[in-house]
Amino acid sequence: MKKTSFALAGLVALGAAFSASADQFEDAIQYRKAAFTLIKANFGPMGAMAEGKMPFDKAAFAARAANLEALAKMPWEHFIEGSDMGDTKSKPEVWSKAKDYKAEVDKFEAAAAKLATVAKGGDEKAMKAQFGATAKTCKSCHSDFKNK
Ligand code: HEC
Repeated sequence: MKKTSFALAGLVALGAAFSASADQFEDAIQYRKAAFTLIKANFGPMGAMAEGKMPFDKAAFAARAANLEALAKMPWEHFIEGSDMGDTKSKPEVWSKAKDYKAEVDKFEAAAAKLATVAKGGDEKAMKAQFGATAKTCKSCHSDFKNK
């Protein structure tokens, strides 16, 4: 009797493990997209300020730059092996050219960290320049690793 219930528990656990791994890929895709959505939610207003479409507010810009520095670290752990299919715009090169992808990640993280530092300094011209440099790293990665 005891043995049967152990075996049954084992089967249930196995079933749970299988369904978890199927959901795992969908979750990973959702998490990384959510991170990019938040990145955009902070980057967009900075861009509007940098381009004069919104009044330049140094404190607001610096707060968003600090958010971006933290958010810039978040999408990457969710590019797990096997999450290249489904509702995703990631190109297969994310995985097949993992080294190049990592280089783009590093460039972006460094640019975002610098943007946060520059923004703390409060020099509007330098903030705009570093915003531009950071935007280039988004585009550079998207052109090689993201489908339109
Ligand atoms: C190192 C590569 C890389 C960098 C840097 C990068 N992205 Fe992306 N981004 C991607 C990939 C890959 C996807 C596709 C994600 C998916 O659908 O699986 C994506 C998707 C997105 C999306 C769409 C999310 C959705 O819901 O479909 C937005 C918006 C976005 N990125 C904005 C940005 C912005 C803004 C920056 C810079 C501030 C940036 N990204 C920097 C690789 C990058």
